[in-house]
Amino acid sequence: MIIVTGGAGFIGTNFILHWLEQQGESVVNLDKLTYAGNPDNLHQLAEAGGYELVVGDIGDQALVSALLQKYQPRAVVNFAAESHVDRSIYGPDAFVQTNVVGTCSLLQSVSQYWGELAEKEKADFRFLHVSTDEVYGSLSMDSAPFTEAHPFAPNSPYAASKASSDNFVRAWHHTYGLPVLTTNCSNNYGPYQFPEKLIPLIIQNALQGLPLPIYGDGKNVRDWLYVSDHCDAIATVLDQGSIGEVYNVGGWNEMTNLEIVDAVCGLLDEMRPDKKGPYNRLIEFVSDRPGHDFRYAIDAHKIKDQLNWVPKETFETGIRKTVVWYLENMKWVEQVSGGEHEAWVSKNYEGRK
Ligand code: NAD
Ligand code: DAU
Repeated sequence: MIIVTGGAGFIGTNFILHWLEQQGESVVNLDKLTYAGNPDNLHQLAEAGGYELVVGDIGDQALVSALLQKYQPRAVVNFAAESHVDRSIYGPDAFVQTNVVGTCSLLQSVSQYWGELAEKEKADFRFLHVSTDEVYGSLSMDSAPFTEAHPFAPNSPYAASKASSDNFVRAWHHTYGLPVLTTNCSNNYGPYQFPEKLIPLIIQNALQGLPLPIYGDGKNVRDWLYVSDHCDAIATVLDQGSIGEVYNVGGWNEMTNLEIVDAVCGLLDEMRPDKKGPYNRLIEFVSDRPGHDFRYAIDAHKIKDQLNWVPKETFETGIRKTVVWYLENMKWVEQVSGGEHEAWVSKNYEGRK
């Protein structure tokens, strides 16, 4: 079996669904259930068997060690993190605590368990750390996309905390020999993404006739990947990746934020037309994110050439599935958009001009 951390969040939920469907190997999900974690995402799996949720913190060494002893996993996949750049600007402490201190603590618990395994289990064990392209900093329009050799230059507290965690994962391999793998992925989109992030936020605001806030001039570029392709890349790296290596994962799909918002509005116009007119009439340019990275772009040649992974979805197929999912799961959005999220929306958007 494997242990997944942070599996009640966006990518972790998709990963567990994908894993159980493709591999059928049991999963224990260790999740603290912060505002971003929703146990109901995977509720139906607990009844079907092969899945268990344990509520707890990756930084709780007694709990993590007990779980490792009890379940004897062949791998740990670490998704657990504070993940929203804007929140990291208002409150970096939680990012340092979970992404840096929590990851180190998890590495310690896992190393101790790994060190006591029998030779065969020790050789087969893997710790896979899920990270982000934001560790590499920002690109200009004419720069080449990030390769794995690109120097770290994180610009937000979130990115700095992830870069730090990546460095600790690397150190645990070099110093203690822990068999680690790291993936650095671009922007994901798809089902179960918390409505604080651009695409689900735009869908929800549009359906409610609220302004669609675009930071700055909307020309910032991200490289968008459908979430199931990211999950497939992680499973591929876990299965075939070389110990100690880093793999960049991306969609070869660079788009400006304005292009993203227009694409989402166009699909909503088609699927849920509004009598008042096209949804992009609601676009409002608001004051920029402080330190807003201009462009991210991933060079995903290494994972293609070495592990034969390429994305299966195009942006057109992936964004259509995403909009359909949100239209069919408005209850889910309502459920996760309770008090915490409302308070966040006021804090982040009310002061923006
Ligand atoms: P998310 O915010 O949706 O989910 C994070 C999950 O981690 C939540 O379920 C939360 O409850 C849990 N968690 C937080 N702190 C914890 C702790 N101390 N102990 C245990 N669980 C804890 O995030 P996401 O978008 O699913 O991202 C998952 C991972 O992938 C993160 O490490 C993120 O940095 C990385 N990543 C995300 C993207 C993206 O576009 N969303 C892209 C590349 C990499
Ligand atoms: O690149 C990978 C990263 O992608 C992950 O590591 C992060 O966990 C994930 O949150 C995401 O970070 P971004 O900051 O790129 O995602 P977000 O959806 O917050 O914003 C996408 C772009 O849209 C970004 O340029 C900021 C802009 N934006 C965002 C929001 C929420 C707006 O213009 N308006 C908004 O209201």
